[in-house]
Amino acid sequence: MSRKKLIAGNWKMYKVKDDALEFIYRVNLDVPSKDAVDTVICAPAIYLRDLVKREGENLRIGAQNMHYLEEGAYTGEISPNMIKTVGVTYVILGHSERRAYYNETDETVNLKVKAAIAHQLIPIVCVGESLEIREAGTTDAVVREQVIKAYKDVSKEDALKTVVAYEPIWAIGTGKTATPTQANDTIKAIRGVLRELYNDAADEIRILYGGSVNVKNVEALLSESDIDGALVGGASLDPEAFLFLANAAVDK
Ligand code: 13P
Repeated sequence: MSRKKLIAGNWKMYKVKDDALEFIYRVNLDVPSKDAVDTVICAPAIYLRDLVKREGENLRIGAQNMHYLEEGAYTGEISPNMIKTVGVTYVILGHSERRAYYNETDETVNLKVKAAIAHQLIPIVCVGESLEIREAGTTDAVVREQVIKAYKDVSKEDALKTVVAYEPIWAIGTGKTATPTQANDTIKAIRGVLRELYNDAADEIRILYGGSVNVKNVEALLSESDIDGALVGGASLDPEAFLFLANAAVDK
């Protein structure tokens, strides 16, 4: 089973508008064809509309979060139909920073996954363990629980429309990458959970690795059997680095 690689940038709360526009202009010039690798930049919500207009043939634009309801008295929130109507393709859900700072739970992540699918958005569903859990040796059990809860009441047909991102919290923004073997082993465990839920469809769902991915370690990570791409923070802010990562994923 060959799964097309996906390189997803997560800009988090970085870049002012001119930098954002310039980045997209530059990356559009040289980003590999979407026939070879999928690429997406998940940008701050305020730029989504402008960036989608400049999307080009190959690079897609994604959001970093959304509410699960279509509308309501939720000051400061953005709904799935709002981001859908500006033309966004992907949405990151359940990032560990949102779980840690904004009270996202497995239950809200599940509601968001279902809302994203209902609005034809491709959710990038984030899971991952803390350092304490890694050191206690319970990573697989914790990640299993996150996956099972995120996919509660999601049919096989809908699960096939999703992407999972495995991001060990201790590797995010720390410069400490999981070794390719560590990342691949946990991703295999996640695929095992998806197999419990969806049988062979598990082989078609892409699972990305995220956590200090950069131009130096990307080749080794993408050479692993079960790592289907990367969710990249810091290195996605530099257009040349992002292009390098995208090119590294071609024909992998
Ligand atoms: P870094 O690549 O900066 O470690 O961030 C990873 C991440 O959180 C992507 O969502």
